[in-house]
Amino acid sequence: MIPLPLARIAEITSGALSGMADPRAVVRGPVVIDSRAVEPGSLFVAIKGARVDGHDYAAHAIRAGAVAVLASRPVEAPAVIVPDAAAALAELAAAQVRTLPNVTVIGVTGSAGKTSTKDLLARLTARVGSTIAPQGSFNNELGHPLTVLRADLDTRFMVLELAARNIGHIKELTRIAPPQIGVVLNVGTAHLGVFGGKEAIAKAKGELVESLPRSGVAVLNADDPLVRGMATRTEARVTYYGRGESAAIRAEGVVVDARGRASFTLRTPSGAAHVSLQLYGEHAVENALAAAAAGYELGLPVATIAEELSEATPRSRWRMEVTDRADGVTVVNDAYNANPDSMRAAFSAFEVLGKGRRRFAVIAALRELGDEGPALNAELGRLAGGAGLAGLIVAGPDAEPVLAGAHAAAQASAQPSAQTGAQTPTQAGVQAGGQAGAAQAPDGAPPGAPGYGEPVRIVHVPDAEAAAAELAVWLRPGDAVLIKGPRAMGLERTAELVLGGATQ
Ligand SMILES: Nc1ncnc2c1ncn2[C@@H]1O[C@H](COP(=O)(O)OP(=O)(O)O)[C@@H](O)[C@H]1O
Ligand SMILES: [Mg+2]
Repeated sequence: MIPLPLARIAEITSGALSGMADPRAVVRGPVVIDSRAVEPGSLFVAIKGARVDGHDYAAHAIRAGAVAVLASRPVEAPAVIVPDAAAALAELAAAQVRTLPNVTVIGVTGSAGKTSTKDLLARLTARVGSTIAPQGSFNNELGHPLTVLRADLDTRFMVLELAARNIGHIKELTRIAPPQIGVVLNVGTAHLGVFGGKEAIAKAKGELVESLPRSGVAVLNADDPLVRGMATRTEARVTYYGRGESAAIRAEGVVVDARGRASFTLRTPSGAAHVSLQLYGEHAVENALAAAAAGYELGLPVATIAEELSEATPRSRWRMEVTDRADGVTVVNDAYNANPDSMRAAFSAFEVLGKGRRRFAVIAALRELGDEGPALNAELGRLAGGAGLAGLIVAGPDAEPVLAGAHAAAQASAQPSAQTGAQTPTQAGVQAGGQAGAAQAPDGAPPGAPGYGEPVRIVHVPDAEAAAAELAVWLRPGDAVLIKGPRAMGLERTAELVLGGATQ
């Protein structure tokens, strides 16, 4: 951050100094909300959360070298006292951005793919100049200003992820750090419950392009009608990316390899180059195109864009992390989070990656879907139950709609059909009760072939640990397993345990 004396911090935040705070003492950063992250020169922002109250850690933060605490009540430490520490943090970030001489702010929003796209785009901007981007998914009212405050006089680019949990949220984030380039990826069903409909989600995401100045650029996904429709909501110039001819930046001749990694020709108005992604899942093409379109607007040569995209590996954890165990079991850890769209994307990537192998999945009921929750979870169950898996584990609470959907789909795909006999992995039978049992392999199915000769097993377990225990019984060398659920389920623990098993 750009160093600030406490007197100036108090002025920006309309706060009052207390606890013998020296007005001339200078904060050099980092600004943090976790006392364990304090370094000498830090400002510690005391946030009162649901479980912990940062104010209890004020003295600890000062001992660790913090210059002062930004607090909403007096603490036994030098402090700037404000009515609302989170709001004061936002004001501090807003003031700081406006003093940065040379920075281009790029905002990325959408229902799925923000973090992945942000990571790709930050690679591209780093080729041009010093770049600040949030670690992981720092995209809310706290993470956003904390990221912004990491910038200094050298910073040329800020690549920010903007998440909307409701109408007005993105508008507020763009007020803190006004973007010149706004990228909108897609309008899906994440947080559908809070919003109450896709149109409302589009309205919220569109706040990003509404905030852009006339001199700015809106980068829109031509293949998503609700995103394309945002063109009328901005004063900025609009550019499109996508698969079709109408997109200025597009992917042509997309092919996906056996592991689910896509290659394509990246076409731009000033030339084309070959891209071979190391990221898993065909949806990575959309994220790569979005990043490419923004990079193109910054003047990066197509060859450079293609090179960086092709070199990129996942930067943020638990997003389609593919790991092979020593015994040949492939674990796809996509446990970071889940919504109906990302579940579909993950299952389709998994189908490619697990072709010709016995496939298993661990999933959990999706949350934050409001009234639509049970219906969308039943749909998830149908997706999983009809995915040709050898076994499905549903972990955690509220699993009933998922289980019901899964059983229904598994039964449907088990209906005998003369033509598709050998192509229907679950045809051998379905154990609706959830326990394994002997079943006959369909005619023509090679012995031991993936999914054949065995019923789809559908079980419900209480948590991530129990899911791992169940998998330990099921998995055999050469199998593939997908692990994906909402953040609150912490299914990365399942992946950890399953992978830990490889070293034994
Ligand atoms: N463009 C996309 N379309 C659909 N699903 C996607 C897309 N990009 C990523 N995903 C899925 O969403 C998950 C979360 O990706 P992430 O980049 O963290 O998105 P976000 O930050 O928007 O939550 C990924 O693991 C992947 O399964
Ligand atoms: Mg994210």
